[in-house]
Amino acid sequence: MKKWWHEAIGYQIYPKSFQDTNGDGIGDLRGIIQHLDDLVDLGINVLWLSPINQSPMVDHGYDISDYYQVDPVFGSNEDLQELIQQADSRGIKILLDLVINHTSDQHPWFQEALSDPTGPAAQRYIIRHGQDGPPNNWRSIFGGSAWTRIPETDLYYLHLFTKNQPDLNWENPTLRQELYGMVRYWLDQGLGGFRIDAISHIKKDWQYENMPPDSDGLVNGFEYFRNVAGIEAFLDELAENTFRLYDSFTIAEMDDIQQERLAEFIGDQGYFSTVFDFFHTKFYIRQERYAKDPLGFVEELKEELFQRQAYVADQGFMTNFIENHDKIRSPGKFIPKAYINEYSKRLLAVCYFFLRGIPVIYQGQEIGMEDYPKESIHDYLDLATHNMYQEFLDKGMSAEDALFWVNLECRENSRTPMQWDATEQAGFTTGEPWFAVNPNYLEISYAQQRKGNSLLAFYKKVVALRKNEQYRETWIYGQLIPQFEEVKGCIAYTRESEAQRLWVIANCTPQEMRLPLSAPRVVLLNNYEQLDQGTELRLRPGQAIVLEEER
Ligand code: GLC
Ligand code: CA
Repeated sequence: MKKWWHEAIGYQIYPKSFQDTNGDGIGDLRGIIQHLDDLVDLGINVLWLSPINQSPMVDHGYDISDYYQVDPVFGSNEDLQELIQQADSRGIKILLDLVINHTSDQHPWFQEALSDPTGPAAQRYIIRHGQDGPPNNWRSIFGGSAWTRIPETDLYYLHLFTKNQPDLNWENPTLRQELYGMVRYWLDQGLGGFRIDAISHIKKDWQYENMPPDSDGLVNGFEYFRNVAGIEAFLDELAENTFRLYDSFTIAEMDDIQQERLAEFIGDQGYFSTVFDFFHTKFYIRQERYAKDPLGFVEELKEELFQRQAYVADQGFMTNFIENHDKIRSPGKFIPKAYINEYSKRLLAVCYFFLRGIPVIYQGQEIGMEDYPKESIHDYLDLATHNMYQEFLDKGMSAEDALFWVNLECRENSRTPMQWDATEQAGFTTGEPWFAVNPNYLEISYAQQRKGNSLLAFYKKVVALRKNEQYRETWIYGQLIPQFEEVKGCIAYTRESEAQRLWVIANCTPQEMRLPLSAPRVVLLNNYEQLDQGTELRLRPGQAIVLEEER
């Protein structure tokens, strides 16, 4: 069945880092409103905002203390209303971030629970008796024990993330209804839907006691708190009471769904519209490995990519992305250092944007923003990043090495402020930014790329081609067939419908590549000026193209 959101082309905003308008150094809703025309220009039609609800910001908004209020740092509920309307009038639907696995410890619900931890209000959270220590030895996803003791008791509350993010007790039917009511409240404001945070963790398996621990005495208990059997009932009830009533678009953060059960989650009657395809998040190009085995990385990535595309195909749509607020920037992630440039950044765009699924761009990706390594661990602000550093030290790494790895992998890399122009603080703020601007803003900025043959201009072409009336149906519903799979370093596929066959071909090697594709084809997109087509196709190093086969 066709849905409106099949045509979605998404853009993610990390509000703290997008655009500040009042000089407090923190991005805000007015800043987003100010740039709506830029987003229209880019061509996107769905805008996902990382959380903007009231929050103590321990996890930059992923710790909500009032679901009904916009945090004053971002503006007011009226500003949000205006943003929704202004976006709507430009054909853009807003998705808010729905964080309902946990709240902030400052949420009145949790404060109430603390004051009477065995009373009825405390049933909203997961509180258990300990015996000489926490109830079990689960490690939090962000490091350390997943349990924190409630002062002056032998009771502990569970938090899969930081201790300031207590997990909600989804077994409690009253709590679930409270959450559904809140979701409907927001959908009534005219939202397109939600990106749904950490939703695979809402069901816990309580048979679990202690497991044999690692050297720190803790253990990763994922099988007991990620996508646990029984979660289906919660998800279905959530969808039934909220999303399905509004025909809304939902993208769930859920990456471990069994292949054969995907339709249950993202099929026509699924719990969500789609889920992010996280398959590539474990891939990082490593200089040492690259030196020894230059194409091994591309080959592994390609294999998994095509496997994934094949088994998702009949079951629904996944959401394709190469950057988000939890990962490093894509150039540093996928491209060998020596080859990070305008061409290779364009190649990345070509490779993922025409896959089957919903494409999403992360703020700054369209101008090629890069990671900004820090000279001191103190320049990082994120708790998970600091915990990562500490874990490296605990494993015996030197401080220098630990910082090296943090710089290479930590999620804060992608949270530096958006680089708008070449004025001070990259035009992000007139004050002191909450997180340092990457000094390369003099070379990489939006203003500079507004004109000419820039990466931004290329992204606009990519989006326009994805939306082009003539090809749109094939991009959305057409089959994906891998091509030239045996050619090392080549990522190529066709998208096919009865009427059309479109080729996407990328030469991910630093050499010229020759492919046996003889008949001339119409060039729809090219990251170089020229294309050598003759009896065979000759691709330059890092060349990526989209062709239409004349039938
Ligand atoms: C998700 C978010 C991440 C956050 C975590 C806890 O993984 O993407 O940024 O820290 O959930 O809410
Ligand atoms: Ca501000």
